[in-house]
Order: sequence, then structure tokens, then C-alpha cells
Amino acid sequence: MAANEIIVPLSAPRPRDRLQRPLRDLRISVMDRCNFRCPYCMPREQFHDSYRFLKSSQRLSFEEILRLARLFVAQGVRKIRLTGGEPLLRANLADLIGDLTSIAGVEDVALTTNGILLERHAAELKAAGLHRITVSLDSLDPEVFARMSGGFGGVNEVLAGIEAARRADLTPIKVNAVVQRGINDQGVLDLVERFRGTGVIVRFIEYMDVGNRNHWDAQRVVPSKELVNLIGARWPIEPREHNYRGEVARRYTFSDGAGEVGFISSVTQPFCGDCSRARLSSDGALYTCLFAAHGVTLRDPLRAGATDDELSQLIRQVWNGREDRYSELRANLREASGDHTKVEMYYIGG
Ligand SMILES: C[S@@+](CC[C@H](N)C(=O)[O-])C[C@H]1O[C@@H](n2cnc3c(N)ncnc32)[C@H](O)[C@@H]1O
Ligand code: SF4
Repeated sequence: MAANEIIVPLSAPRPRDRLQRPLRDLRISVMDRCNFRCPYCMPREQFHDSYRFLKSSQRLSFEEILRLARLFVAQGVRKIRLTGGEPLLRANLADLIGDLTSIAGVEDVALTTNGILLERHAAELKAAGLHRITVSLDSLDPEVFARMSGGFGGVNEVLAGIEAARRADLTPIKVNAVVQRGINDQGVLDLVERFRGTGVIVRFIEYMDVGNRNHWDAQRVVPSKELVNLIGARWPIEPREHNYRGEVARRYTFSDGAGEVGFISSVTQPFCGDCSRARLSSDGALYTCLFAAHGVTLRDPLRAGATDDELSQLIRQVWNGREDRYSELRANLREASGDHTKVEMYYIGG
């Protein structure tokens, strides 16, 4: 089948979940492995040298990803983000990007990366049709960076990756920084200063209790409000409207016209009400929330010979039954169950 051929007309009725939320975004984890060991995501002591990641035969092939992506698009998906683990560890990723961008109905294909391999790949990603890129960078201080990455990579390599993305016109470039109190919060203004006026949008993410292995501690969360005040005291900023419904970052622009910063406040200002994201794990399970405990395998029926109609029906069924709003219920859930077993982020992607 040609890449732009679709199975269900784009005008077909779109599924809604139990809270009436449509399915608009798909995040695909193309690789469960990572070349970093950020303690808030894949702590080194848990994800050690002999940790068993997926075998390559367990991961979805590009062909399988493409087939499922087309079915999701027919159900309403318009934006696709490739993530991981570290997506640039997946060989020939540009080939997949080329195919995904040519699916009729797809408006936006983006990638989230830790940036270490970006300098090498930026131009080919752009040539393949990638629209935008988000690079994670938690600190400009080499020592703090090393602490946040588990001792891998370096600030200069990530900055070179961002520069290469800019040369390749993978814009608007966003830089994501997870902020942890007492670890990298001292470097927040440095990050803003470094990128103010460059067109790169820095977004500060509240440290979340994803997965079960990152020893999440609420004391380490720095509420976005605190950062808005800190940044605003140095460079006046003004709140902006969301670009679109369901946008996760709260946007602020600098009053002097030097661009914009964003805040992703899943802990203190949950945004479940507008969440239209489905997530596909590296081994093809469909998750309806970043904090879900279970996914539904699409890979197994697909490999057992399911038709497009059968797979589409399964996707609709899962979406129709969705009622997740973990972030809004976080406090109650954590109290009720001591802890709630969740899927790990490296596996379904951030
Ligand atoms: C899981 S990573 C995958 C893509 C790539 N490896 C990267 O780091 O950009 C996607 C995003 O999730 C963020 N993330 C991971 N663990 C987090 C946590 N506990 N709280 C908040 N954000 C987290 C990362 O900082 C990154 O921006
Ligand atoms: S946040 Fe990204 S770079 Fe860090 S360990 Fe997780 S997947 Fe790897």
C-alpha cells in the first residue's frame, strides 16, 4: 500500500473517550533503550548493564509502526511525536519519518531527543520531512548536567545538536528542562538567558512521578508558579493564550520581545481535561495515559494476522473506554494505594 493511502475516510466519525476527549495525538516510543541514565527517568542502579531491554524482534518494525500510524490517523490523530528511550538510537529513523510525514491527514511530525546524536542527524531528519524537534537539556552547568544525565553525554554536545537543528531549520526548537529542587533549580535563569532572543523556546517541566523506579519525592518538585515569578522578576513576562486546545505548556512571552518560555505543570496544574494523547510503546502496546498501569497490545493481533478493520476496532474500543485522569487524581490515588504501579516512561515515551 502506498504511504499516503488510508483505510478509513478522514471524515469518518472519530472516537471519543468517556470524558468526551477526542484522539488527536500519538506518541510513539521507537526505542526503549537510552544512552543516558537520568535518575528521574532511568536510574542507573535499576537500568544497569545487564538490564533486559526488549529484543529487537519484540520492538515494532517500521512497517508495523507505519501500518498502525495510518489506522490512528484514520481515527483522528493529526500529530505524531517520536520519542523513547532515545529515538535517535533507532537505526535509519529518517526512513520512518519520511513515511509518517507522507500519510494523508498528518499535520505535524515531531521528535523528542536528549540531543547527543542530534548534530549528526539533524540534516537528514529535516530532509526526511521532520517538522519540529524538542531537545531535553536540564542544565548548562557540566557538573549538574552529568548528575542529571547519569554521567553520560555533555552540555557542549547537546548545544551542538541544537545548533545543527537550527541550521537545518527544524523550528521552532523547544528545549525541555525537568527541574528538581536542590539539584538543578539554581540553573533555571542561566537556561533562560542562554536561549532568550534566539528563537529557541525553553520549557520547564515539573518533576513527575512517572514509573515506579525514580524514587519520586514531592519535596523535589518546583511548582511552575515559583519559576514564573523567578523568571518574571528578572525579565518581565506576560501570559499568552494556548496555541491550540490540549496544549500542555503554559506559554509566556518576554515583554521586551525576546521570545517565549513555557511551563509544563502536570503536578501542580494538571491538564487531563484536554488530553487527547495516545501512546504506543516500543513493543506495540497502546496506553491511554502516561501514568497508566496497563496497555493493550496491538502488536500481537497484528502479528497474528488481524485485518485493518479489526485493529481499528480495537483502537476505538480502547479509546472509547478511556477514563484516565491520573494527574488530577494523583493525591487521592497515591494515598489510597500507597503507590500506584505505572508504566515506565522510557518504554512508552515522554
Ligand atoms: C522520556 S524522554 C524520551 C526522549 C529523550 N530521551 C529525551 O530525553 O528527550 C522525554 C521527556 O520526558 C522527560 N521526563 C523523563 N522523566 C521525567 C520525570 N520524572 N518528570 C518529568 N519529565 C520527565 C524528559 O526530560 C524528556 O524531556
Ligand atoms: S529522560 Fe530521555 S535521556 Fe533521560 S533517561 Fe529518560 S529517555 Fe533517556
